[in-house]
Amino acid sequence: MPIALITGASKGLGEDFARQLAAKGYNLVLVARSQDRLQALGAELMAAHGIKAEAIAVDLTQPQACQQVFDQLQAMDWAVDLLINNAGFGDYGEFGTCDGPSQTSMVQLNVQALVDMTHLVLPGMQARGQGAVINVASIAAFQPMPYMSVYAASKAFVLSFSSALWAENKDRGIYVQCLCPGATETNFAAVSGLDKVFGDSNSQFKLAESGDVVREALVAMEKKQAIVVTSGFSNRLIAGMGKLFPNELTATMTAKIFGRGQK
Ligand SMILES: NC(=O)c1ccc[n+]([C@@H]2O[C@H](COP(=O)([O-])OP(=O)(O)OC[C@H]3O[C@@H](n4cnc5c(N)ncnc54)[C@H](OP(=O)(O)O)[C@@H]3O)[C@@H](O)[C@H]2O)c1
Repeated sequence: MPIALITGASKGLGEDFARQLAAKGYNLVLVARSQDRLQALGAELMAAHGIKAEAIAVDLTQPQACQQVFDQLQAMDWAVDLLINNAGFGDYGEFGTCDGPSQTSMVQLNVQALVDMTHLVLPGMQARGQGAVINVASIAAFQPMPYMSVYAASKAFVLSFSSALWAENKDRGIYVQCLCPGATETNFAAVSGLDKVFGDSNSQFKLAESGDVVREALVAMEKKQAIVVTSGFSNRLIAGMGKLFPNELTATMTAKIFGRGQK
């Protein structure tokens, strides 16, 4: 049975990746901070699908966290076939006055942990001549985002990094996807404070279902698509605008929309 390692598996998109991959027969390594949620999810999926699931509770903003996960898997003799770097969060606010430690943690989780985990897992895939990595970015990757400046920059990093890895590895039997969802119904808006700008998730926008986003990512994996902007006209428009228009214009337009939450 193939083995998938999913970061941020305790809820949201990561939980849906776990559910859909378990149904496809993957053994799972579930990583996040919430031990109880990971264990409950693992137990449920083992009982439902006859798979194995290992829950590893770590804070991925800590420097040795990825190594700790990797060492645990090596001790179990588990080699990762599919790595899903999904854990991440955003933080809404004007950069000069926002919480500094939160910006640092965001870079550590959205960027550093993703790089570290990939660097630990990829050599094994290369040695075996097969494997896949899905890095979860966002449509925020395609343009600067005032009032979520560090978040969008972290996702631009993920897009650039993933595309480079895709090209380095595509002829070696290894597939790398950069998944770029738009607004999706998860805890993301509450954690990031975006609900201050747009109200609660039901008020103005139709958010994507997280299960649908994951389904699209897994279909795209079958088709070996490198960059996946998930369905919806507004997602395609936002991603396209970032490519067509200069940064000054998209930043000015985005500032008008995202500045609404500022007093
Ligand atoms: N939802 C959206 O609108 C949207 C749109 C575009 C991209 N994304 C991206 O999708 C990914 C998943 O987010 P989501 O929407 O599913 O949000 P979510 O529901 O808030 O889930 C975030 C996951 O990351 C884990 N996590 C957070 N901090 C962590 C840490 N320090 N160490 C380890 N795990 C940590 C959380 O688990 P614990 O709290 O248990 O640690 C949780 O499992 C993120 O990279 C996000 O940027 C989301």
